[in-house]
Amino acid sequence: MEWWRWGAVLAAVVSLSLWRDLILASLGLSSVDEAKPEYDIVIGILSARENFEQRRALRATWVGYIQQHPDYSRRILVNFIVGSEPCPVPPPDRLDPFTCQKLVLSESICAGEVVALGLASQNSLPSSQRQTGPVETHFSVQHPVVITKLGVLGGDITGEGVRVRLVDSAAKEDLLSVNFTSDDPGLHTGGNMFKAVQNYVLPKGFQGTITVESLAPDDVLLETFPLDQLQLNNKGGVLQLTKTVGFMPESGYLPHHTNIQQHTAATFMYRVYEPEFLEQASQELRAKDWSGKLGAEQKRLEREVEQYGDILLVQGVEVYRNLPRKILEFYKWVTENVRFNFTLKTDDDCFIDMDKIATEIENLKLREKSKVWWSRFRSGWAVEHHGKWGEQDYTSPVYPAFACGAGNILSADLVSWLAKNTHQLRPYQGEDVSLGIWLAALGPNLISDHSWQCEEGCTAGMYSSPELQPTQLMTLWSNLQKCGSACQCS
Ligand SMILES: *[C@@H]1O[C@H](CO)[C@@H](O)[C@H](O)[C@H]1NC(C)=O
Ligand SMILES: *[C@@H]1O[C@H](CO)[C@@H](O)[C@H](O)[C@H]1NC(C)=O
Repeated sequence: MEWWRWGAVLAAVVSLSLWRDLILASLGLSSVDEAKPEYDIVIGILSARENFEQRRALRATWVGYIQQHPDYSRRILVNFIVGSEPCPVPPPDRLDPFTCQKLVLSESICAGEVVALGLASQNSLPSSQRQTGPVETHFSVQHPVVITKLGVLGGDITGEGVRVRLVDSAAKEDLLSVNFTSDDPGLHTGGNMFKAVQNYVLPKGFQGTITVESLAPDDVLLETFPLDQLQLNNKGGVLQLTKTVGFMPESGYLPHHTNIQQHTAATFMYRVYEPEFLEQASQELRAKDWSGKLGAEQKRLEREVEQYGDILLVQGVEVYRNLPRKILEFYKWVTENVRFNFTLKTDDDCFIDMDKIATEIENLKLREKSKVWWSRFRSGWAVEHHGKWGEQDYTSPVYPAFACGAGNILSADLVSWLAKNTHQLRPYQGEDVSLGIWLAALGPNLISDHSWQCEEGCTAGMYSSPELQPTQLMTLWSNLQKCGSACQCS
């Protein structure tokens, strides 16, 4: 071939590849995208580092089924989403079970009985104020304490007297209740009145309220003291006074933060429970033990990553409060690394019936829709301020609709929006409510379906079922294989 013909062929090849890029670009794809593997569904299973047994059970059931299925194995990618780092603080030494913060006390612990809140001294009494009850003081427990007495601030019990109650704020339940009357005012100690109660251990993480109310039928004014002028004896951080978020009663939104505990009228005495647990030596012992455990865990996890290739390690410490970050990292990874139509998010204790889901995607014509969010939704869910689901940051009284964690499907357009905005999205208390808050801005197309089962139990035809022990999961799966129904095999 003559040289100019070679030139023409070369030119044609070059222009062809230019054309190809142009066509791909007009379709919103780049040749980089073109090179990415393509899947119909990418499944992300949130899994904690230490959940080896759960992952094993899933690989022995529905995950293994997908990975070995001739069609699914090509079209569906399954990833366990696992945190890249463990929490180095031994669980008993953490501030709470949901974060990786260590409880650090600012003083060494003695075993004696102490007054939680007291009037500093008789010659510099804080200026009291009279207000109607009930007057509440909120606190949380960072290390277990034993309540020994309940008390009233100030020396005088007048009129019909008052009642002091210790309330479990999360359960909204009275634990202890004592009446102080002028006939039976209790013991005068340090300018306050006290009465002994049955010793009661408040566990770590307990959130409590001390309430005082008048025993008189018409609400008599109570003598209260400004909280910030009282002497707080919290043994270096064993107890903590907490703020409460107040809501305007009827408005529904426009919440405001109020510190409703500015004044208080009651107190209590306590002892630190098992103070030896907090000693340096015992902390060091636990730390050593824990670090040994983590070393073994790391090795085992590395072997698992290599052996199965289905673990996606995402940047971050493995604790409950990081779940929103983990799920965002997953969406980001998916968007950057594969072409896909849908993601399915689930947890490592969930059963998933992939055949049903795959069929239903076609029946519901989900491919023809945009901004698809297919799950079962909770709506009008009140924001909880206590415990595992305790929300510190979201200031509206109800959450926007959010999907149940056991299974929810997002279309690629929603996922790439999340991926693009990862750094602007603020994490709330859990991954499910966070997703609800983030996506509310986009007006997602909620497709609600009760076959996504959100609570424990078994219903015929369910797509998912949560909170299963590995053995329960195996049973559901073997029922489904043998009899075509997960719930029973007769
Ligand atoms: C993604 O969906 C499109 C239709 O919207 C379909 O043509 C394509 O095959 C799907 N991708 C995979 C990998 O199944
Ligand atoms: C306190 O007083 C109230 C009202 O008189 C009464 O109902 C309640 O039983 C009393 N509680 C105790 C512990 O004595």
